[in-house]
Amino acid sequence: MKTKKLHISFQSFSSLNELSETDQKLVAKAISACSNAYAPFSNFQVGAALLLENKKIVIGSNQENSAYPSGLCAERVALFHAGAQYPGVAIVTLVITARSPQKKLKAVVNPCGACRQVMAESANRQKKPFNVILVGEDGQGYIFGSVYDLLPFSFKFE
Ligand code: THU
Repeated sequence: MKTKKLHISFQSFSSLNELSETDQKLVAKAISACSNAYAPFSNFQVGAALLLENKKIVIGSNQENSAYPSGLCAERVALFHAGAQYPGVAIVTLVITARSPQKKLKAVVNPCGACRQVMAESANRQKKPFNVILVGEDGQGYIFGSVYDLLPFSFKFE
């Protein structure tokens, strides 16, 4: 029996000014995408913005349903939209953020496991990693150079 250790790597920032101009623009898109959320059940509005290699930006927001499991997270709305609308075009960066009309959110939104798995599929499909930037309400956040740092043991059918 051997003990193995995993090393994950990410950067943290305390202000959006620390990001590149391109990333700041993408963050602005993700923040405004929160307003398109349909979240009457949770009141938790998530916004996602994807920058594609062809320079197109695809946004997503969580879309809930009264039959709860039928709803979908913001990240998957954006990732599936990109797959459906721009098949074969690689993702460069994905920004995720969240808002609540009821209270100030303390932390950055950590994507759920299912969304991480879908991100992993996208990275596998395009055969290169993409950046994942998580942004909190005060402009603080984390940059992951690869979804594999967020989900080291993703499922792979091989
Ligand atoms: N949600 C997302 O959109 N992304 C995540 O990664 C986690 C959760 C949504 C689903 C639901 O509409 C609301 O946030 C509360 O769980």
